[in-house]
Order: sequence, then structure tokens, then C-alpha cells
Amino acid sequence: MSDTQGSIHDQWSSRFAFILAAIGSAVGLGNIWKFPYIAGENGGGAFVLFYLVCIALIGMPIMMAEILIGRRGRRSPINTMRALVVEEKAHPAWRWLGWLGVVTGLLILSYYSVIAGWALAYVFRAAAGLFTGAAAETVSAQFDALLQSPEAMLAWHTLFMMMTVAVVARGVRSGLERAVTLLMPALFVLLVILVFYALYEGDFARGAAFLFHPDLNKVFQHCELTESGVKACRFSGEPLLIALGHAFFTLSLGMGAIMVYGSYMPSNASIARATLAIVVADTVAALLAGLAIFPIVFANGLEPASGPGLVFQTLPIAFGAMPAGRLFGTLFFVLLVFAAWTSAISLIEPAVAWLVENRGLARIPATLGAGVLAWMLGVGSVLSFNLWSGESFQVFGKTWFELMDYLTANILLPVGGLLIALFAGWVMSRTTSCDELGMGDGPWYRIWRFLVRYVSPSLVVIVFFNAIGLI
Ligand code: TRP
Repeated sequence: MSDTQGSIHDQWSSRFAFILAAIGSAVGLGNIWKFPYIAGENGGGAFVLFYLVCIALIGMPIMMAEILIGRRGRRSPINTMRALVVEEKAHPAWRWLGWLGVVTGLLILSYYSVIAGWALAYVFRAAAGLFTGAAAETVSAQFDALLQSPEAMLAWHTLFMMMTVAVVARGVRSGLERAVTLLMPALFVLLVILVFYALYEGDFARGAAFLFHPDLNKVFQHCELTESGVKACRFSGEPLLIALGHAFFTLSLGMGAIMVYGSYMPSNASIARATLAIVVADTVAALLAGLAIFPIVFANGLEPASGPGLVFQTLPIAFGAMPAGRLFGTLFFVLLVFAAWTSAISLIEPAVAWLVENRGLARIPATLGAGVLAWMLGVGSVLSFNLWSGESFQVFGKTWFELMDYLTANILLPVGGLLIALFAGWVMSRTTSCDELGMGDGPWYRIWRFLVRYVSPSLVVIVFFNAIGLI
């Protein structure tokens, strides 16, 4: 199917541009902020192993499915689903899949922007030399001071949301995507430098063992620090669901972000190869972040389960002690903000594309509208760390931030991903998917089809029911 009128932009200039944009979307706070802290809360090794299994058996096939659907439809997710429903003579209810993505994207963006705001704040803290020579307690106290200031967090959240809206509204994305070529490799280099620092100055053996030595007893144990600083663990299937949800989150799957990017992909590019490049880059980034952080955690007597502040309470110790740490620290947080920025753009894009294509809005008001909505929802996440952290503000024992994170990463993305797998595997005809993937009808295509029809959907369903205690 070719481009139709009303399609908002043309295709990527090259296959490479698509891969860069998708890596920009995938590599973000999920890799550097979220992965280490949830691995820490869920006991390390076994959790990491299960996360890697999910990436391979669920993430890769579903990413191929999502790109394939996007490229076939060549529109925003909502209209792509509409068009494919007609083309494949599917039930009209499939159209809701596009909607689910728009909503999920805005919900994720709402708290993503708050955490990216922390990273922004840390650019200035690092540049001001605040970490120079700082001990673990000082660094923790500095982080707490940020959490205790709703005004400051709100200001940084607002700034980051404005940055995102500015890029998406003015359509200067191509410039940003070109910058990915330079800045993503720079981020990887800095992560490697940090891993070397951890190797020489941290407790590398313990950090690496924590991440890679699977203790199967631990994967069913979910630990959190209580308000009094005591570690509380309980047994449940929840860590498996958190690992599964994170596989979707970190690869930007399950809500149409990759579908939108796929819709601009040239038809002659290989979907399988692009997927492999994206998945490898994303996984390496997460593992490097883990290897940089946990040796510092153990060398300084910190707690791996200390929650969302983990990165901000560990890496500054390293920057404070290493030569040229002020420069490296500043650069690192600049690159982290940049990585978050290219991810945030893909979270808002499905909503904007829909407003432009279907509501006839111009690009600027459409982006402003979506941005303001996500910003407002984000205020709840700002307050979750201070004024609304108390029990009276919690629902199901979770703060607003935790609720948004749980609802999106552990429920909405897996459900979206499941539906994408079912659509590509069962609803789309074999000829269509085989033709669009363009890798012939050989063993690779058959493996993909088997995974996307049977393996990925059943794993998602099993992990889900296991977590809520039904099996
Ligand atoms: N993958 C990004 C990260 O790891 C976050 C992200 C961007 C995302 N777009 C998404 C997550 C779409 C889910 C769906 O930081």
C-alpha cells in the first residue's frame, strides 16, 4: 500500500535513518535509569536472565510484527489499524489497538518527563561541581533534596516537556535524528568509561555476580525499601511480570511508537536486520549501565533495592572521585537527557499524528494539546515523591507515579504487544506478512511466524496470570 493523502510526512531518507530513529526511541531512561533499579529491586541475576529471555522470545518477534504492521499501513497507528482492518477483512474492533497506543504513550510520557527532569537538574549539578569529592551520604542527601522540592521538580518537568513539544511541533526532528549518530555513540563511550571506573574502584566482582549470577529463588522475590529504610521482600510472580513489561518498555514496543517509525521505513529495507540492530544496541546499553552502577553500590555499602533514585545516588559518587569527573559527569547527564529526549518524541508522536490526520489540527496546536495533557498528568508524579507520598494518597499501596508506571509498563504495553502479535500472526494473511518481511519463505520466516503466533502470546498470558495469582 502506498502513501496516501493526509499522510504527514514522507519516508526516511535511508534505511539507516530508520534504524537511528528507532535506536533513539529505544535507548533512553529505560536502559540507564529503570533497568538498574528494577534489577536491584528484584534480586539481580535471575531477573536479568528472565528479562533477556523476554527480549529474545517476545521482544524481537513483536518488534518485527510492529514494524511490519506500520510499514504495511503507512499511516498513524490508529489509521494504520483502520486501513489494515479493511485490507485484511478483520473485525473492526482491532481499530481500538491504535487508540490504546495513543493513551499509553501519553501516560508514559507524563512520568518519563518527570524523571528526565531529574537528569536535567543533574546536568547543572554536575557542571557546578557539586559531586566533587562527595561521599555516598552526601550524594544521597543531594538527591533527597531534589525530591523534597516539588517546585524544582515541577520546573524541570516543565522544561523537559517544552523541549519535547518544541521538537515535535516544529518538525525539526530530522536534525535531532542526525545528532543521534554522534551522541548515541558518545553515550556508549561514557558508559564504557564508567564500567572501567567500576572495574578499578568499585566492587566489580560483587556487582557483576549480582547482575549475572541467577539465583532462581530470588526471581519470585520482590523487595522494596520501606519508609523506615527496612528491606521488605515477598514472594510473588510479580518480578516476572516486571521483567516482561520492561522488555516492552525498553524496546518501545506495544503502543505504536515503533509502528509510526516503521510507517516511514523504505520498503526495500530488511525488517529483521533493523530489529537485530535495535535490540542489540538497546540491550548493550542496559547491561553497561548495570555494570557501571552495581559495583559502586556494593563498594559504598548502598542498597541495590533503593528504588528509582539508584542511578542518581551512585554515578555521582564515581564522577566525584574520578579524574576530570566534573566534565564526564556533565557530559553524561547531557547525553542522558538527549537519550530521554529522542525517546519522549516517540511517545508523543502517535497522539500528534492522529490529531493531525483525523482531527485536522495543524501540527503545532496538536503537539501543544498532547504535551499539555501529558504535563498535567505528570504533576501527579512530581507530587508522588513529596507532598503525595503518604499512604492517604496511595491507591492499591502505590503512589500516582508507581501506579502510572505499573499500569503502563506491566499492563498496557504487554496487552498492546499481545494484540500486535495476534494481529500479525493470526489476522494478517501469511502472504502479506511473508511479502512485507521480505526474507523469503525460509526457516527464518517460519521461526518468526511460530514465535509470533504461539510463543510470544502464550508467554505474555502465562506471566500475566501468574503475577495476578491465577496460575
Ligand atoms: N524505550 C524508551 C526507554 O527505554 C522509552 C520509550 C520510548 C517507550 N517510546 C516508547 C516505551 C514507547 C514504551 C513505548 O527509555
